[in-house]
Order: sequence, then C-alpha cells, then structure tokens
Amino acid sequence: MSFAGLMCVCRLVRISTCSEIQLRNRHALVKLSQNRREIKCFSSGSVNYNDEELATKQALSRRRRPLSPLERISSLLPQDALSPEVMQLRQENQHEPNSVQVPATDCIQEESKCEEIAEEDDLQVDAAVTSATLPGESLLAFGELLVAEYRRKEQVEFRKMFQLQAGTQLQSSWGIILHDSIARQPAGRILKTSRGFPILIRRASLEDYVLFMKRGPAIVYPKDAATMLLMMDVTEGDFVLESGSGSGAMSLFLSRAVASTGRVLSVEVREDHHRRAMLNYKHWRTSWSLRGGKEWPDNVLFHNADLCTASSLLDGQGFNAVALDLINPHLVLPTVIPHLHPGAVCAVYLANITQVSDLLEGLRCLALPLLCERIIEVPVRDWLVAPALQKSGQYCTRKAPVMAEEQGEIEKEELTTDAHPAFGSIPYIARPHPEQMSHTAFLVKLRKYVQ
Ligand SMILES: C[S@@+](CC[C@H](N)C(=O)[O-])C[C@H]1O[C@@H](n2cnc3c(N)ncnc32)[C@H](O)[C@@H]1O
Repeated sequence: MSFAGLMCVCRLVRISTCSEIQLRNRHALVKLSQNRREIKCFSSGSVNYNDEELATKQALSRRRRPLSPLERISSLLPQDALSPEVMQLRQENQHEPNSVQVPATDCIQEESKCEEIAEEDDLQVDAAVTSATLPGESLLAFGELLVAEYRRKEQVEFRKMFQLQAGTQLQSSWGIILHDSIARQPAGRILKTSRGFPILIRRASLEDYVLFMKRGPAIVYPKDAATMLLMMDVTEGDFVLESGSGSGAMSLFLSRAVASTGRVLSVEVREDHHRRAMLNYKHWRTSWSLRGGKEWPDNVLFHNADLCTASSLLDGQGFNAVALDLINPHLVLPTVIPHLHPGAVCAVYLANITQVSDLLEGLRCLALPLLCERIIEVPVRDWLVAPALQKSGQYCTRKAPVMAEEQGEIEKEELTTDAHPAFGSIPYIARPHPEQMSHTAFLVKLRKYVQ
C-alpha cells in the first residue's frame, strides 16, 4: 500500500473511533438526564420541605445553566439602564422557579471562596435578634425600599434596590436571601446569602432611589441636584418652580428641601414624562411612610404643560427660586423671570457647553434682568484608601526609614504575619479610584436683578 493510502486508512479509523466515542457519550448523557428526571420526580413526590428549606434547595439547584455574558453584565446595572429584552429575560428568570442565577462554572470556585469568607469575616448574624435599641430607631418593614450591597476588596460587586415583600426572595449571583428574614431586622444588618456571602441590607437613601428608580428621560444627578439647591439657597417654606419634571429626580430633592411648609410647581410638556415623574414621586412617598410611620410631604404639584406658553398657570405666583432642566431654557425665561423674586436665583442644568453659550447668547438678545454669576461643573472624585496587603493577603508593616548599611538586613526580614497588628503599624494605599463618574452637566447660576 502506498504512503498516501496508509494515511487515508488511518484517518478513517480515527473518524470512526471518534464517532463511537461521541455516540457513547451521548448514551451516557441521555442516561444521566433520565436519572435526573427520576431523582426530580422522587424528591418532589416523597419529601416535604418547609418554605424556607424549599427556597434554599431551589437556590442550590439553580446551577444548571451558566449565565450568559449579557446576563452577567446586566445583573450589575441599574434597572433603568437595561434594554426591554434584557428586562424581560430578567423577569422571566425571576418568575421561573428553576431559573438560573449562579454561573455553574463559577460555583465551585465561589463556594470555596465563600467558605473562606465565612471563616475570615465574623459576620454571621443571629437573625432572631429583632429589637430596636435606640430612641427613634425603627426596624425594617414590608413595603420599604431597601438596598442590598456586597463589597469585596474595597469594591462594590453587587448593589440592588428592592422593595421588601413577604414570601419573596432577594436573588443574586452570590445566592439568595429570603425577604421574610430581612423584615423586622435593624437597617444596616449584614445577612448571609444561601451561599454564605455577607450582604449589607440598608434603607435606600434618596440618592439611591433616584439612581435606581425607573427613568423616563435622564435625571439630574444627585451631586448636581445638591449643588443646585445650594446655588438657589432653597430653604424650608420656599415656593420653587421646576421644569421639566422629567423622571422626577429634581422634584424629589426640591420637595425635601422646601419641606412640609414649602411647595414645588413642576411643569412638564410631555405627558409620558409627566406621568413617570408623578409615579416615581408617589412610589417614594409610599415607601417612606413605612419607615416608622414618617410622612414625606405631599408638596409637589406636577403640571402637564409647555412652560413657554404657561403664563396663565404662573399668573399671580411668586417664586423663591427656579430650577430649569430642559433644552433651550432661554425660550422659557421670558415667561418665568417676571415671577421670580428680585435678587433670587434661577439655576440651569445643561449637558453641553454649546448649550451654555446658546443660553448666554439668548440672554444677551432678550435683554432679561439676569446676571450670569457662575458656570460650574461638579466633579466628584472617588478615592481608594485601604491597608496595604501583600500578595499572600497579609498586612504589610510600616517601617522606619533606614540607613544604607542597614538596608541589606531589613530586606532579608519578612513582613509581619500578625493578623491584627497594632494601631498605626499598617501602611495604607491611597489613590484615585480606577472607576470614576464622568461628566454629567454644567450648572449656570442666573440672578435676577432690578434696575
Ligand atoms: C432631562 S429631562 C428633566 C429631568 C429632571 N430634571 C429629573 O431630574 O428627572 C428634560 C424634560 O424637560 C421637558 N421639557 C422640554 N421642554 C419643555 C418645556 N418647554 N416645558 C416643559 N417641559 C419641557 C422634556 O419633555 C423632558 O422631560
């Protein structure tokens, strides 16, 4: 037989053995899935679990399908940043009792990691301790808006806002926590998931709420909202005009600033945005009222109209401040400024610097009694400050400066192995955080003057 003929025979033999192996594997798989089906039938037929055990078992059995990259990324994002398809996928996963939350390939690794965590951190809590200890403190109640947070190595790995509901569970790739075990706990409690990961459960702040709530248009970011309140010097009892309502983020910050003795008039041209802002406001107020019976003021009047042509709405009104977040703000100023108190401030929120120059050019042409006092950006820089660790995970130690001749000996010395070194003996790393919030907007401060 020629060499080429010999090669041909070899290939044929290899192909036939491969397909035999594949066939055998297939048979094995079919057998396995049949067995699994039997096991499933057996367990559902003969074993009675209580609800909690069942939930834990469901969570543990939720390791069949690895998460797709899209699902993994989407689990890190706030709800409103997701596309409708991803939202649908997420909802399907939540409703499906056998839905998959945990990446199968990560499971084994993460479980061993989680054992480490359980040993290292003394975070195991006694969920039965449920009494408020401080005056004015209230325990977590069903209906409240809460935030679950998991941090590792100075980073937030998981953060989710959710409403506490009886019979529901908080799901994450780090395991589940039953809502029933969160209720009647103090805020700020660290609870362990079914997989042993420590999750901080706290009440949602207004900042959390506006960042996580369902959005229509883009919101005024909390850092900018706080600066706008400062610019306008809004205080309790003030009457403030705001436009557009958008998603209602700024309305909520204004509502809190003017408090129960003040009022906010929020004007929005689009009906869908008007409704979204009202819904977000109502949702926050309702959940707030469950926090130990506290009442959030009902002091925002949402109005669906074009501010350019809303003179009749503003007739007879005088505002302590005006907050504008809409395109072409110079077009609404002629309607608004006659109703702003002399010496008071109109704060304008604009995403682009070209919009700022359009506004200033508009002011120049309209000859309105407004002084542009400031144009600012509000940079917030996150920093990473943490004890310096060696690669082994042990702390480094602070060392006194050494003379050149001593250097050799010091280099031979090992770093400390002490788990709890003395106060002040650990050096810290301190540098800007690698992830930073980028540009949000320019804030323009316009003051009304009288000649
Ligand atoms: C960026 S959003 C406002 C977001 C809002 N500040 C928040 O924090 O959620 C801008 C809104 O202004 C509205 N708008 C634009 N022109 C308007 C006008 N002339 N009168 C009233 N609303 C207007 C838009 O429909 C849009 O909903």
